[in-house]
Amino acid sequence: MSSQLSPIDKAKFVAAKKATDYVQSGMKVGLGTGSTAAWLVRCLGEMVQDQGLRIKGVPTSSRTAQLARDVGIDVISLDEAKWLDVSIDGADEYDASLNLIKGGGGALLQEKIVATASDQMVIIADISKKVEALGAFPLPVEVIPFGWQTSKTLIEETLIGLDVLGHTTSLRMNGEAPFVTDEGNHILDLHLNRIGNARQLSLVLNQIPGVVENGLFIDICDAVVIGYGDGRVEVTDITKGTNEQSAYDFLDEDNLFSDVMD
Ligand code: A5P
Repeated sequence: MSSQLSPIDKAKFVAAKKATDYVQSGMKVGLGTGSTAAWLVRCLGEMVQDQGLRIKGVPTSSRTAQLARDVGIDVISLDEAKWLDVSIDGADEYDASLNLIKGGGGALLQEKIVATASDQMVIIADISKKVEALGAFPLPVEVIPFGWQTSKTLIEETLIGLDVLGHTTSLRMNGEAPFVTDEGNHILDLHLNRIGNARQLSLVLNQIPGVVENGLFIDICDAVVIGYGDGRVEVTDITKGTNEQSAYDFLDEDNLFSDVMD
């Protein structure tokens, strides 16, 4: 029940719920990865089951694919979809221009491909994700396993010449072993503290041979839906130039997927 949810989960839920306004029957929808995106998938699943919503979902990770199937969403691959009407995903940081850091959950590669192949990309988040400048959250960079230590050194040398405050990198671990992405790659987390020129950094990182992709999403996101723990929700759409606020009433009888543990 809603009373069992923490304020942060309420914020994520109301952002996800509001973002379903971007989804209509007949659409092909990119489904993001992470705890906020999981709320979205559950909300869409409920609409499929109870309201007859007909959508095709393109997941951005194996775990989102599993959840989407579990809640009754018709899952297809990006190659089957070819192009999407909208993608809705979480973010680790966003700035005033809606440039993002993503990949905290390790799914940045599929997330970026899917978001780029969408007419619209909408981010759902709680207000803690908003920053003046990107970079406090470590920037994830996906590298192929072959020669990853050399790639790490090359990245660190490259960072010295760029407008960032920190230069250390770390291999993301999953217990005792390196974290492995859905594509079989590793993640290097770049501890930059502040990124002065995100566009330049993104371009330069992707020039390094072992780098597959980085977690900077520049000029990809169209709108952000911010949820608050008291039910307020704010939608800023930079494509339409609009900013709208509303509020969600948590009713005692709401079944807010009390089994959600993501
Ligand atoms: C997954 O790889 C990430 O890009 C997530 O979208 C991001 O980490 C946000 O996750 P939360 O919604 O769990 O904060």
